[in-house]
Amino acid sequence: MSQNILVTGGAGFIGSHTCVALAAAGYAPVILDNLGNSDVRVLERLERITGARPRFIEGDVRDRALLDKLFREQPIGGVIHFAGLKAVGDSVADPITYYDNNVNGTFVLAAAMQAAAVRTLIFSSSATVYGDPDRSPIPEDAPLRPANPYGRSKLMVEQALADLHRANPAWRIALLRYFNPVGAHESGLIGEHPQGKPNNLMPFVSQVAVGLRDKLAVHGGDYPTPDGTGVRDYVHVMDLAEGHVAALRHAEKQPGLVTLNLGTGQGASVLDVVKAFERASGQRIAYEIGPRRPGDVPAYWGDPTLAQATLGWRASRSVDQMCADSWRWQQANPNGYA
Ligand code: NAD
Ligand code: WQD
Repeated sequence: MSQNILVTGGAGFIGSHTCVALAAAGYAPVILDNLGNSDVRVLERLERITGARPRFIEGDVRDRALLDKLFREQPIGGVIHFAGLKAVGDSVADPITYYDNNVNGTFVLAAAMQAAAVRTLIFSSSATVYGDPDRSPIPEDAPLRPANPYGRSKLMVEQALADLHRANPAWRIALLRYFNPVGAHESGLIGEHPQGKPNNLMPFVSQVAVGLRDKLAVHGGDYPTPDGTGVRDYVHVMDLAEGHVAALRHAEKQPGLVTLNLGTGQGASVLDVVKAFERASGQRIAYEIGPRRPGDVPAYWGDPTLAQATLGWRASRSVDQMCADSWRWQQANPNGYA
């Protein structure tokens, strides 16, 4: 099997870190990205970290002719498919754009792969497919009831890929349900830089620490959790990246379809993250407890035991390390790659 791995969305947050893990494991990432939510300057950073600049194709995963050409021009051993849109609020406001990018985008990619006889696919799903779970830790066979178009787009793709595998068992597919990916590569050279005001906790906290924002609004202090704030399963992006390499290696061994949670199995509250970030940065994080955010679930974390048993992978980096690495990236790059 070719060591060239097509990484759609490889210029983005999780994709760029996965390119580092792929290179460390001896693979050659080939990035396809439309740069809709990323910066081409990430390529220089990847070159500095790995010693090799990944091949980059600027384009859209929905462009079938481009995909056919890409598969013709070089052997591709497998595909890790990150390209997609991920802002829950935007998906509620503009569902068709979300279904087009996330669902149609995957269909175009899978059809091109089928035509090129490339049948190894690692897909970025999300714990959001569980919606508000009955209990935590959440196992993979928990009920699936996503609460918004973004989550439904992920579930639709999961179901379609399962049908594809049933129709042609030669496919090797991993559906990876990420919990809350945060942190940055330990070099501080690559990380997450959301455009505009961050929706997510960790980038917001980092921007408060570096002085870009005054204070964090804590969305709810009256949840039935130990300190009243929301609890999530934060997972270091490099652990997640290594999970993709483990999933790829697993898929290379035998055809099949696996659905796996990628998380730590442990919950941390908003205030746990604030305190950990204060320890990591030496900065005080000003915050104010405000109303709950509509649509938020009080608390959930994943059960990662199936991923451990199947892939021999487990998340090893602590919340303190997630904060230390986010802080290093944020301090060195207050304006992202600009
Ligand atoms: P990101 O926005 O940083 O990365 C996605 C990349 O895909 C971006 O570089 C963007 O430019 C590109 N892209 C988007 N649509 C495209 C298209 N049609 N054609 C080509 N490129 C396109 O997001 P991320 O956090 O790295 O997330 C990667 C994947 O993981 C997404 O599919 C997301 O839904 C999923 N996911 C993310 C999280 C999270 O919290 N970050 C959690 C669960 C799942
Ligand atoms: C975490 C906690 C907030 C911001 C989202 C998507 C999910 C997945 C991961 C893609 C919650 C609290 C946050 C702030 C806060 N993405 N918070 N103040 O909502 O768990 O998950 O990203 O698949 O689909 O929904 O992540 O980082 O937004 O929130 O108090 O300014 O931090 O209420 O308890 P979330 P988050």
